[in-house]
Amino acid sequence: MGAFPHLFSELRVGPRTFRNRIFSTGHMTCLLDGDLEPNDRFVAYHEARARGGAGLIVTEAARIHETGGWRNLNAASDGCIPGYRRAAEAVQKHGCAIFGQLGHAGVYGAATPDGSHGVAYAPSQATSSRSHTVSRALPPSLIRDYVKAYGEAAGRMKKAGLDGVEILASHGLLPAQFLNPALNRRSDAYGGSLENRMRFLRETIASVRDAVGADIAVGVRISGDEVEADGNDPDELLEVCRSIGNEGGIDYLNVIAGSMIGLRGSIHVVPPMNIEAGYLAPLAAAVKKLAPIPVFVAGRINQPQQAERIVAGGQADMVGMTRAMIADPEMADKAREGRIDDIRACIGCNQACIGHMQMGLGVSCIQHPETGRELDYGVKPPADRPGTVLVAGGGPAGMKAAAVAAERGHRAILCEATARLGGQALLAQELPGRAEFGGVVANLAREMERHGVEVRLGTSVDRGLVEAGDVDAVIVATGARPWRPALAGEDEAHIVDAWRVIAGEADVGGRVVVADWRCDWIGLGLAEKLAREGRRVTLAVNGTVPGQTIQMYVRDRWVGDLHRLGVEIVPYARLFGADATSVYLQHVASGEPIVIDGVDTVVTALGHRSVTDLADGLEDWPGPVLLAGDCLSPRTCEEAVLEGLKAGFGV
Ligand SMILES: Cc1cc2nc3c(=O)[nH]c(=O)nc-3n(C[C@H](O)[C@H](O)[C@H](O)COP(=O)(O)O)c2cc1C
Ligand code: SF4
Repeated sequence: MGAFPHLFSELRVGPRTFRNRIFSTGHMTCLLDGDLEPNDRFVAYHEARARGGAGLIVTEAARIHETGGWRNLNAASDGCIPGYRRAAEAVQKHGCAIFGQLGHAGVYGAATPDGSHGVAYAPSQATSSRSHTVSRALPPSLIRDYVKAYGEAAGRMKKAGLDGVEILASHGLLPAQFLNPALNRRSDAYGGSLENRMRFLRETIASVRDAVGADIAVGVRISGDEVEADGNDPDELLEVCRSIGNEGGIDYLNVIAGSMIGLRGSIHVVPPMNIEAGYLAPLAAAVKKLAPIPVFVAGRINQPQQAERIVAGGQADMVGMTRAMIADPEMADKAREGRIDDIRACIGCNQACIGHMQMGLGVSCIQHPETGRELDYGVKPPADRPGTVLVAGGGPAGMKAAAVAAERGHRAILCEATARLGGQALLAQELPGRAEFGGVVANLAREMERHGVEVRLGTSVDRGLVEAGDVDAVIVATGARPWRPALAGEDEAHIVDAWRVIAGEADVGGRVVVADWRCDWIGLGLAEKLAREGRRVTLAVNGTVPGQTIQMYVRDRWVGDLHRLGVEIVPYARLFGADATSVYLQHVASGEPIVIDGVDTVVTALGHRSVTDLADGLEDWPGPVLLAGDCLSPRTCEEAVLEGLKAGFGV
């Protein structure tokens, strides 16, 4: 028996049996083309996870009606059937089941291809403080159309050969809006009592079941706690689970948390790094006590050990490990084979998965840029002429480049000037709540080890070293250093750089201004760290909001923490100068000064400058020289790893 006997036991759900308890929850991939139908990239993406051992893949929220979606898959017309069929065949041939998801956004509104807002239909005229939309109350005839449309979309999925369908009543989507008395103020049969508010969901379930019969599975995804002031009452949500879970219409309940009606509830839609792994298992366990059908759960479950505990402890029957498989499509097989150290665990950074999706870009992973790019990088062809590749720099870019070059058959030698691998990731993991970021380093180090990269620590590379060795190609990944422009009055002021503060190398006074030009994790993290140490902190950002450039769930969770800690935030503020007691900022929109007095220390997070000495020195070296990451232009870990992948492919 393997290491995870419960996780790798079969589960029957309705008419289908899954080979194990690991599933990929529905998630929008943004890999589709303009017709919003499953395409080759979508099929290749899901097939990679099926090949890697998942028991079930639930595909993304598909719109059931033309009024009900964003950029998501369109299941409102028969055009989706051939694409779903190709996805089904690709996934099922690996022994994995595949379900479709049925969604309607309701109050969040419907984006239209011409960029205008469509009319958002919801139970009543209501607002969402996340999308800033006002809905139009659904006329009874449209409610009937929607109920029918859920069934018709489910019928299309069945016709395409999917194994099941999942109705989205989670995340504050349309069925959850009907349940919610703050959004549903109807006086007809769909509003008022909980029985009435449940009517839409019940009719939807019946419509779907009528359409698909007993041949495929039908489930409901529901938030057991929306964590939102205007959200559904958690006790009522449990009652809804109890009711629909006992009425025979559905084969499983898929429990999650959060709601998109507000920013706080939204954080739980894709919970970030500083939310405890597996935190929703107790909620699933509560639902399990109420309903005699299988219960699924997800939420920051990124390792098989934890998934095994959840199943073994009877908290849930199926464990969603969605980002875990975005980060490592082979996670399930590695767990089954006991190759635990080879698993590239998701770190919950939200950067390239939900972060991309929210920008309308294809899903990927900062640690595994092959994700979403399966057609380009899914297979690593052996090098035409294997040789010696010298990689200069042991940050994420250099590590990925060396691993890929070695995997393709080169002798890859990675030289790192300091005593440790990791580059800026080593600092990033020191920010409060960001310890898991260090996983990037551990995972890339393991990748290098697996492919036989030779690592030389404490070794800087210059042209002499390149010429002294028998080197066929050089990959330069020398990174960047902090940058600070000349500031008025700086000789008198106490100004320290972010990196030194994070590393614990700087003295910081009791009254601090953090001047944040990057508007990312560094400013937020420094403000939190210094406030937790008992300092009075102002975070002055040269942008519209702190964390402007990072994924919104990460940002909003952090901004909430800073609010609790009493950090003062000054937006639109450019650092101009400082003296012994004051900081001089300029409002970037009005041009007016903002002066903060009584300041002991200014901490600067003003961006970075590339380290280009080696690249410059190799300008006329005759062999191939490829650059990757911040030495090309300072950006984030995501670009570093992606460019490392490309460099490893390019040699
Ligand atoms: C890129 C992305 C898109 C998502 N889109 C959906 C969706 O279409 N439907 C849905 O029910 N959940 C969606 N989610 C939420 C996931 O299903 C899941 O609940 C969440 O990622 C937490 O699980 P995890 O910690 O295993 O990743 C999305 C998540 C991600 C990362
Ligand atoms: S980008 Fe970050 S959160 Fe998303 S899958 Fe990769 S490691 Fe996980």
